[in-house]
Amino acid sequence: MSSERAGTGTNAQETDRLRLHFSSSENPTQYAGRWESLWQDGTYLPWDRGQPSPALIDVLAQRQDLVGSAVAAPSQPESNGGPRRKALIPGCGAGYDCYVLQAQGWDVVGLDISETALQRAKAYRGHLDGQSVFAAGQFGKGTLRFESGDFFTLDEDVWMGQWDLIWDYTFLCALPLELRPKWALQMSKLLSPTGRLVCLEFPTHKDLRAGGPPWGLPSQTYVALLSRPGSDIKYDEEQKVLPEDQQDPTNQYTLTRIIHFKPERTYAAGKDSDRVSIWARR
Ligand SMILES: C[S@@+](CC[C@H](N)C(=O)[O-])C[C@H]1O[C@@H](n2cnc3c(N)ncnc32)[C@H](O)[C@@H]1O
Repeated sequence: MSSERAGTGTNAQETDRLRLHFSSSENPTQYAGRWESLWQDGTYLPWDRGQPSPALIDVLAQRQDLVGSAVAAPSQPESNGGPRRKALIPGCGAGYDCYVLQAQGWDVVGLDISETALQRAKAYRGHLDGQSVFAAGQFGKGTLRFESGDFFTLDEDVWMGQWDLIWDYTFLCALPLELRPKWALQMSKLLSPTGRLVCLEFPTHKDLRAGGPPWGLPSQTYVALLSRPGSDIKYDEEQKVLPEDQQDPTNQYTLTRIIHFKPERTYAAGKDSDRVSIWARR
């Protein structure tokens, strides 16, 4: 596996450049063009670690009891245990994590609003050979498709209620704050009834007042959003989310956090502060 790229951390200068790139977007719908222009330019992609997430690799290897297996009947490996279960990565960028899930036997869709990001992701196929992390696991490889589209306007009939695993890394923190409640609702709607949302929480220690993307995202914010998907969350004068984490019994989309931990391995940028949370329908 290649080592994490130099200069892909979150030092102040780099973060500020990203913030300024988006600062004149008054309307979240303009963000699509901003992402595409960054990907097209290709010289400044500070979130792109050049390798898959070690935390995702470990979740798949060590937390199968919580996220489930890539196949519906894992005790019958002779038949490959099929049918395969489905994984989605919204805002997949260059797609490294998609290839990890595919290698572990999941049928994967990587979604991104940027066509250029997806071209990169497809081209990465040519770099898999010889990297053990992309070698097929016990169930053989699943399928992988890259789809271009806006996470917030996906066709309900085609996308909703069918994903057994959804992985979020640097997607929520990339979104304008007003889209956060909608992110939570959409994630919950996309999950299958037994599906799991797995978040690599980042950047958990960044002050929201420092701007974004990436916007500060303490663990408490995930709790507030996913306890009441679709409802606005409130921030105090220090821009910390107010601790209204009670689940709303009337909200059918509420997700429950089934585990929360500090990953043993993660990218250097989140070494001390990254957390993993896994969520399920009530
Ligand atoms: C900060 S990057 C993270 C990419 C990838 N998760 C990674 O860790 O390298 C955010 C990605 O989300 C994509 N994106 C932003 N808004 C989106 C939307 N509404 N629907 C789908 N993708 C979106 C961007 O094009 C970009 O590739």
